[in-house]
Amino acid sequence: IAFTDVCAEDISSSMCLYVDWNQTAESLSVGLSDGSLSVVSVREDRLEISEQWAAHQFEVWTCYFDRTRPHLLYSGSDDCCFSSWDLRESPSNIVFQNKKSHNMGVCCFAQNPFDGNMLLTGSYDEFLRVWDMRLMAKPVNEKSINLGGGVWRMKYHPSIADVVLAACMHNGFAIVKVGSGDATVMETYCKHESLAYGADWQKNEEAEQNGNSSVVATCSFYDRLIRVWQPENLSEL
Ligand SMILES: *[C@@H]1O[C@H](CO)[C@@H](O)[C@H](O)[C@H]1NC(C)=O
Ligand SMILES: *[C@@H]1O[C@H](CO)[C@@H](O)[C@H](O)[C@H]1NC(C)=O
Ligand SMILES: *[C@@H]1O[C@H](CO)[C@@H](O)[C@H](O)[C@H]1NC(C)=O
Repeated sequence: IAFTDVCAEDISSSMCLYVDWNQTAESLSVGLSDGSLSVVSVREDRLEISEQWAAHQFEVWTCYFDRTRPHLLYSGSDDCCFSSWDLRESPSNIVFQNKKSHNMGVCCFAQNPFDGNMLLTGSYDEFLRVWDMRLMAKPVNEKSINLGGGVWRMKYHPSIADVVLAACMHNGFAIVKVGSGDATVMETYCKHESLAYGADWQKNEEAEQNGNSSVVATCSFYDRLIRVWQPENLSEL
């Protein structure tokens, strides 16, 4: 396979830690190790920083465009803050900064594909938290669940409502059902012997239509391992 570089740009002297596309694929948000956030426009053959600002005190571990309100960008950092930015203003306006809820860094976000008002944060403090985003200026933390390891990555199931796959560092992988009333672990997977770091659902429309079970790919850090497996307990849904 030959890959062609479309464009590349040195956007900072700091490390780039996370990247997310906006919904029309015309811009990228990038979290940087010096606490900055960058929004980069993707032109046909070049990248252009449209804005870069000091967003956090420490490393920005994750950033995420709201899928239903595309002018909102969320950021999470090693400084324990969960922040939101309104990109319609320049410089970007801070919508809120939550300093109190997370006891350690904020590692990842996931928005419910069937309910844009439900946003999850995953934290190094081992909690998955569920946020009600209806009051955008003051999000409400509805509930939380301890997954026994830093919640480094989360992915919603593409078609089964309210099912989330989480990579939980020292505690393997978890499949969590995050319903309106509560959040419960349906399944855990601990066959990796190193830090659980990455996870995603297979997107396979044909299999889903055929009623075939879901497939997951997970990867771990030091042992450089990828595993592909089928959850046992999803068929109960
Ligand atoms: C994506 O980013 C581009 C460039 O910044 C912007 O013009 C566009 O409106 C954004 N898309 C959405 C859906 O907000
Ligand atoms: C599936 O659910 C059952 C019943 O709650 C539980 O005992 C079992 O450990 C679960 N399977 C996995 C792989 O976690
Ligand atoms: C699941 O997929 C396999 C292989 O693609 C297929 O043979 C089988 O019929 C499918 N099962 C169901 C229940 O559709």
